[in-house]
Amino acid sequence: MSKFLVALFWIVAWSIPSAHAQSAGNAERGAKLAYTCLGCHGIPNYRNPSPNYRVPKLRGQHPEYLVLALQAYQSGERSHATMHANASGWKDQDLADMAAFLAGPPVTPAAGSKPVGQAPDVAQTCVACHGVDGIGITPQYPTLAGQHADYLERALTDYKRGGRKNAIMGGFAGALSAADIRALAAYYAAQRPGLDTSKRPAPAKR
Ligand code: HEC
Ligand code: HEC
Repeated sequence: MSKFLVALFWIVAWSIPSAHAQSAGNAERGAKLAYTCLGCHGIPNYRNPSPNYRVPKLRGQHPEYLVLALQAYQSGERSHATMHANASGWKDQDLADMAAFLAGPPVTPAAGSKPVGQAPDVAQTCVACHGVDGIGITPQYPTLAGQHADYLERALTDYKRGGRKNAIMGGFAGALSAADIRALAAYYAAQRPGLDTSKRPAPAKR
């Protein structure tokens, strides 16, 4: 089966509404819960110490995707000790509220915007889900546009090596060389409009 058909299969499979349909997050409540998260996600270019790469930008991301990512750190599908600790102990509604606050309004393509630079050939399969412009085509598919290149590289390497055990991405990342991963990360990081660092809430008025 061609990679394109595999991609199509997943798109259709994932489009079917599931029993786990999420309720919308309450960003105002999320702002209170997610205060500690800003210690890393609210500081531009904050770094994960070892290995060294930048903490992902969450502002503009799909909140539905952020909840799925947090559940993957909870369950250990994504192995990262700090994020496992930070994601654990919350109810799904708490995750949805924090995601709504940390993401804010999702990035949408600007009218008439063109891709920045030339997409590498290996991006042909990726665009089915992440778009040529890096904007995830469904709320469950992450937006990659404007994300830190070193974080995208780390994530793809983790899918390839099994540090992230996602069934969809494992297959696609497994086929990539280190050079492919670098080129794809650089391409998607350069796309605009794109993701940003999460913002602190405005101080409460007296
Ligand atoms: C000590 C720094 C730190 C703190 C505090 C922290 N994070 Fe993270 N977060 C990270 C790092 C580093 C990653 C990337 C982990 C990886 O490589 O998978 C990450 C990844 C994430 C992701 C996945 C993003 C994506 O694009 O897939 C989400 C969502 C997230 N964090 C939300 C939170 C929330 C919510 C909190 C607070 C409850 C929080 N984080 C607290 C450092 C932190
Ligand atoms: C069939 C749809 C699909 C295709 C095709 C696809 N992806 Fe993904 N991608 C996903 C989904 C779903 C996730 C979230 C997985 C998870 O929960 O960890 C994801 C996650 C990612 C992430 C992690 C983002 C983050 O914030 O942590 C990167 C980077 C990525 N994909 C890049 C690519 C690249 C590069 C390709 C092409 C080689 C590709 N993807 C092909 C659906 C797809």
